[in-house]
Amino acid sequence: MEPVRQTALVTGPTSGIGHGIACILAERGFDLFLVSRNDEKLAAVKNDLESRHGISVTTMVQDLSQHGAAKRVFDEAQARGIEISILVNNAGFGIGGELTDMKPTAVAQMIQLNIMTPTELCLLFGREMKRKRSGRILNLSSTAAYQPTPYIAAYGGTKSYILNFSEALAKEMEDYGVVVTCLVPGPTDTSFFDRTGIEGLGEKQTGLWAKKKRMSPRSVARIGVDALAAGRLTTIAGLRNFLLASANRLVPRSLSATLSKWMIKRASDL
Ligand SMILES: NC(=O)c1ccc[n+]([C@@H]2O[C@H](COP(=O)([O-])OP(=O)(O)OC[C@H]3O[C@@H](n4cnc5c(N)ncnc54)[C@H](OP(=O)(O)O)[C@@H]3O)[C@@H](O)[C@H]2O)c1
Repeated sequence: MEPVRQTALVTGPTSGIGHGIACILAERGFDLFLVSRNDEKLAAVKNDLESRHGISVTTMVQDLSQHGAAKRVFDEAQARGIEISILVNNAGFGIGGELTDMKPTAVAQMIQLNIMTPTELCLLFGREMKRKRSGRILNLSSTAAYQPTPYIAAYGGTKSYILNFSEALAKEMEDYGVVVTCLVPGPTDTSFFDRTGIEGLGEKQTGLWAKKKRMSPRSVARIGVDALAAGRLTTIAGLRNFLLASANRLVPRSLSATLSKWMIKRASDL
């Protein structure tokens, strides 16, 4: 009899960290259920991973910033008879600038994508994992979670939510044999920066976001998958990011907020 193959659901697998995670899981023999917005990009990832690793990849086109998206993904998995052993809540983006200059609809979509959809996916797939007493969930936060982040105020808030939510959920789920891990990347070399809308961010040679100082998405992905496999609560990717996040815990929040404002102004044209 063939051993039962396990399937991992990855949101946002067509670029950046999510693509790295999908590739590593494929290398480790998992079938994949991949969800994002662009059919062509999804098909390219599917063809590549199926041909290189002999796994089976199912794709679903879904804008996860829309209300009800998580339920549609869950229903699709159920309809196809796919049991999810690993859930990776990776898709996310950050809008930058002064909050009062932003379009309310864009901020609402970011909050839906970064908070509501991962929370609902954890609820729906987590309930199945709890029933089966096995499963693993990887949630993507950010080092922005560790301090107030002026000019990415709402984005930083969404990532603080994910960090707290993920760590609390991990404690609820440990009694049922389900692992929940939070991956905390710092600046990583992906298309994330093109979407923030902050002029010049990362284009200067100095500062936290400088291109040459960013980690590669593949190395961040590996740190996340390894932490998930080891059953860790939280992992901050990279020593520099770990030290910066830890230092933030030692200083008063008012100082941390002021420093954060100074650093993003210094690193961009704000
Ligand atoms: N890069 C960094 O410096 C950094 C730092 C800390 C945390 N993070 C976090 O890491 C995660 C991955 O970011 P990344 O840097 O790898 O970004 P990325 O390269 O821009 O990739 C984002 C992925 O999410 C998908 N996606 C975006 N919006 C979506 C939507 N509305 N519905 C469905 N899929 C959507 C994209 O696919 P389509 O566009 O084809 O839909 C793409 O596959 C995010 O949660 C981000 O907040 C990134």
